[in-house]
Amino acid sequence: MRAFCLIAFASLSLLSGQGILDRAPANKAARQNPYAGSGKAQRAGEKLFRRYCASCHGESAAGCNHAPSLRIPAVVQAPPGVLEWVIENGVLEAGMPSWSKLPPQQRWQIVTYLKSLAGDSELKRLRGSFRDPE
Ligand code: HEC
Repeated sequence: MRAFCLIAFASLSLLSGQGILDRAPANKAARQNPYAGSGKAQRAGEKLFRRYCASCHGESAAGCNHAPSLRIPAVVQAPPGVLEWVIENGVLEAGMPSWSKLPPQQRWQIVTYLKSLAGDSELKRLRGSFRDPE
């Protein structure tokens, strides 16, 4: 099942040519997250994620209920302004709804949560396999 999901999403992004993360307008992408690094915002964002996003991206954002994992470098390392833009606009053609009705504060809290996944052990393992020998 996991392999199927990976293949399905890989071919989706091949068909669309450019990933959604590359499509944010420069002025949107350049915005900073007013809550960057705030533990309070991260916890609020995690709750919002469970409420609005987990049904597709999975309880812990690891993906594959109808949507890809968000615990990948391309997402957790994306500029915060890009992530907020994706949440606001959705990816309508791929089935992700727009969250433009949420207050911007809540979208930035979700971004804070997504950025916090950067410390995840899965990512550390991935990074570890690319580390230069010392
Ligand atoms: C109805 C299902 C659904 C819901 C609910 C949903 N998404 Fe998505 N999301 C998707 C799909 C499908 C994609 C893949 C789009 C594509 O292939 O370009 C996606 C893509 C993304 C991406 C880009 C990932 C990448 O690698 O390009 C981000 C970031 C994202 N979603 C965040 C969220 C957040 C945050 C929420 C909650 C506010 C959310 N999504 C809610 C279905 C959903």
